Amino acid sequence: MDRVLSGMRPTGKLHIGHYFGALKNWVELQDKYDCFYFIADWHALTTNYENPEDIIALRKEMILDWLSVGIDIKKSTLFVQSKNIYHAELFLLLSMITPVSWLERCPTYKEIRNEIKDKDLSNLGFLSYPVLQTADIIIYNAKYVPVGVDQLPHLEISREIVRRFHYLYNGDLFVEPEGLLTNVPKLLGTDGRKMSKSYGNAIMLSEEPKSVEKKIKTMMTDTNRKLRSDPGNPEVCPVFDYHKVFSDEEERSFVTDGCKNATIGCIDCKKVLIKNILSFLEPIQAKRAEYEKIIDDLDEFLSKTQQKANDVAAGTVKKVRKVLRI
Ligand code: TRP
Ligand code: SF4
Repeated sequence: MDRVLSGMRPTGKLHIGHYFGALKNWVELQDKYDCFYFIADWHALTTNYENPEDIIALRKEMILDWLSVGIDIKKSTLFVQSKNIYHAELFLLLSMITPVSWLERCPTYKEIRNEIKDKDLSNLGFLSYPVLQTADIIIYNAKYVPVGVDQLPHLEISREIVRRFHYLYNGDLFVEPEGLLTNVPKLLGTDGRKMSKSYGNAIMLSEEPKSVEKKIKTMMTDTNRKLRSDPGNPEVCPVFDYHKVFSDEEERSFVTDGCKNATIGCIDCKKVLIKNILSFLEPIQAKRAEYEKIIDDLDEFLSKTQQKANDVAAGTVKKVRKVLRI
C-alpha cells in the first residue's frame, strides 16, 4: 500500500471548514492507503513561538476532533511531531542543502508575512517552515500528501530538496511527494468572510446546538434580499453554499424555488439548514464524548502509533547518515 502523510498545526478546535477541506478526505484515505497523520506542533511554534503552552493544550483537542469524525487509530498511524526527534535531525541536514532564496520566494511565506502584522515573523524557524515540512514527509517516504492548494508551493520545494539531495549525494533514497487535492466545497464564515476560528464566524465540530442555531440565524444572506417580499438569489448566498453541503436535493430545490419566488423567508430557509447541521454534528459530538472518557493522557493513547512512526523515521535517518558518512 502506498503511504499517505499529512499534518495539521494545533491552532485551535477544528471547524466544519477543516472537515470538508481536509478531514473528510483523510478519513476516506484510511481504507486505501497506509496513512500517517500527525500533529505539527513544531510548525505551530514557527508563528506562535511566544505561547508554547497553548499549543501543548491543543494537541489533545485536535486528536479528539480527528477521532470524532472517524480518524481511526486502528487504521492510521497517529503521532505528534515533537515526540519524534528524527524529524529535527533530518530537518537540520536538509537545511544544509536548501538555498535560502527558495524559501524567500515561497508565495505562502510572502503572503503570511504581509498578512500577520502583529507578530514578528523574521525568525529563522518561520522561514525554514517548508524544510521542516519536507523532513516530515520524506522521512516516511510518503508518496501522497493530501493538502489544500495553498500548500502546493511547499510540496514543490519538497520535491526540489529531494532532487538536490539525490544530486549531491548520488542516491535515490527518497520518494518525491505528490499533493493529493480534493474538491473543497466553498463554505464561508457566518459573517461572509473566510471561515476562521479567530473571526468567531466558524461552526466548530464541537459547537453546542444552541450556539449553532444562533450563528446560522444571524448568518449573512444574499445582501440584495432585504425584505421577505424581495426575491433572492441562492447562487450568491453563503447560506445556500451550506445547503449544497448539508441538505438533500429536495430541500435544495425547496429553498431555491422559495428564495427566487420570495415564497419563503430566509428564516424558513435557515431552519432547514440548522436541522441538517445539527444532525450532521450529533454523531460527531457523541463520538467525541466517548473518546473524552477513554483518553486521559494523550501520550499514552498514542504510544503504539507514535513508536511505529518513530521507528520508521529512525530507519530513514540511519540511511541518511550512511549516505553522508556522518
Ligand atoms: N503546513 C501544513 C498546514 O499548515 C501542516 C504540515 C506540516 C504538513 N508538515 C506537514 C502537512 C507535512 C502535510 C505534510 O496545514
Ligand atoms: Fe439565502 Fe436562503 Fe435567504 Fe435565499 S432564502 S437569500 S438562499 S438565506
